[in-house]
Amino acid sequence: MWKDKGTGFVLLLLQLLSFVLLSFVDSGSAGVTSKFVRSEWPSTDIPLDNEAFVVPKGYNAPQQVHITQGDYDGKAVLISWVTVEAPGSNIVQYGTSENKYEFTASGTVTNYTFYNYTSGYIHHCLVDGLKYDTKYFYKVGDGDSARAFSFQTPPEVDPNAPYKFGIIGDLGQTYNSLSTIEHYMRSGGQTVLFVGDLSYADRYQYHDVGVRWDAWGRLIEQSAAYHPWIWAAGNHEIDYMPYMGEVIPFKSYLQRYPTPYAASKSTNPLWYAVRRASAHIIVLSSYSPFVKYTPQWMWLRDEFERVDRKKTPWLIVIMHVPIYNSNEGHFMEGESMRAVFESWFVHYKVDVVFAGHVHAYERSYRISNIHYNVSNGDRYPVADNSAPVYITVGDGGNQEGLAGRFRDPQPDYSAFREASYGHSTLEIKNRARAVYHWNRNDDGKRVPTDSFTLHNQYWGRTKRRRKLEKNHLRTVIEQVPLADGFRKRL
Ligand SMILES: *[C@@H]1O[C@H](CO)[C@@H](O)[C@H](O)[C@H]1NC(C)=O
Ligand SMILES: *[C@@H]1O[C@H](CO)[C@@H](O)[C@H](O)[C@H]1NC(C)=O
Ligand SMILES: *[C@@H]1O[C@H](CO)[C@@H](O)[C@H](O)[C@H]1NC(C)=O
Ligand SMILES: [Fe+2]
Repeated sequence: MWKDKGTGFVLLLLQLLSFVLLSFVDSGSAGVTSKFVRSEWPSTDIPLDNEAFVVPKGYNAPQQVHITQGDYDGKAVLISWVTVEAPGSNIVQYGTSENKYEFTASGTVTNYTFYNYTSGYIHHCLVDGLKYDTKYFYKVGDGDSARAFSFQTPPEVDPNAPYKFGIIGDLGQTYNSLSTIEHYMRSGGQTVLFVGDLSYADRYQYHDVGVRWDAWGRLIEQSAAYHPWIWAAGNHEIDYMPYMGEVIPFKSYLQRYPTPYAASKSTNPLWYAVRRASAHIIVLSSYSPFVKYTPQWMWLRDEFERVDRKKTPWLIVIMHVPIYNSNEGHFMEGESMRAVFESWFVHYKVDVVFAGHVHAYERSYRISNIHYNVSNGDRYPVADNSAPVYITVGDGGNQEGLAGRFRDPQPDYSAFREASYGHSTLEIKNRARAVYHWNRNDDGKRVPTDSFTLHNQYWGRTKRRRKLEKNHLRTVIEQVPLADGFRKRL
């Protein structure tokens, strides 16, 4: 009798417990809103006389040296630099051993005005016909003022080539920006995917706009003279300032940061693609026309068809405005581009989309919202194994500060979000697997905070599919864990 009662009580307890557990699972999205907020230093720009912006010594010494990929497949680099006193030499000397420059390439020089600012002499030089996976040394400038740097070419385009990308956005020129650059440089990253908003020079007026573009070029040289930075443009590159009579969009940016757009059959430097090691990287412009039949739309349609996942299994899209963002800052600004391009991202199984713009960090689950049309009711994002992971890294550290207000409750599609400065790395291990990290800037240290293994959408899946067929399994194994809310709907 007593014993029965006891058993009944235990059963009741178990029932209660499972009810509590189940309802917890039911109501809770698995997304995490990190309470951690780390703003480190005040959001003010580093003063111009700080050593971070030091002008190299010597008459007409090259400054603001930076490189980017110069062709489609990584056998060329575009080298840029600025000289102030005179046009100077257009020549890049280069070779595979230090201080012994066997080859030369000749570039172009240009200058421009912005209100009452006149730029220095901006040099661009394409160095091509390089060997893969080789360290090159190069020298720019004349005589005693010449300066020497080096870079490493990527391995040949190959499905299993490992490669490590850094992802940086919304950088600016504060002490936080400097911290982000220093942390990236210690991360082992080999190339930066830059998701827009470079110098924030447009926060200044008149002559200082150009001055701050120059300062930023000197700030990033410590990395960008040695590692290619793959550029995407943001709103702070538009520089539309009618009060000064400056109304040509992207004027300073386009003069200073060239891209290899023609190599991918693009007709505009603001959108293009490059292939590097095992990755096919598509750069989009959030601030150029992209609706159906515009040049960007037509180019992207064709570029997706040129992607060969057997050669470049990793398909990465970078752009400025995020498509999935649950921060109050810039909420829904990506909707127009989502409406136009999201179905292609799903159809072509893009692995990951990196964006910036929002000054915080956020990562989504694999979700899509492509079933909506104006005449049906399907208007919410659903779990979708063919969809990319969307990652926002607008947290480089510019003078506008952090976007600290996330929408509450956290939407089901949002996996992790935190308002701190930092940068990400994507370390491709082979055709099937990559390891991703978001690294928070923390008291001058780089702290890996959000990380996961990214399984390739093409190879990861076919391999998995084969395995599933072999084992006669019916279950779909998720690439990235889905929120509970989504699992129910599957
Ligand atoms: C560019 O440089 C040339 C040669 O020094 C100079 O004559 C010209 O005025 C400059 N252009 C602008 C827009 O300042
Ligand atoms: C540029 O113009 C601004 C505003 O008119 C003025 O205050 C400034 O002194 C000028 N600077 C130079 C270098 O001409
Ligand atoms: C929109 O949804 C309705 C209802 O499901 C469907 O009949 C129609 O074909 C859809 N239209 C488009 C363009 O997909
Ligand atoms: Fe922005």
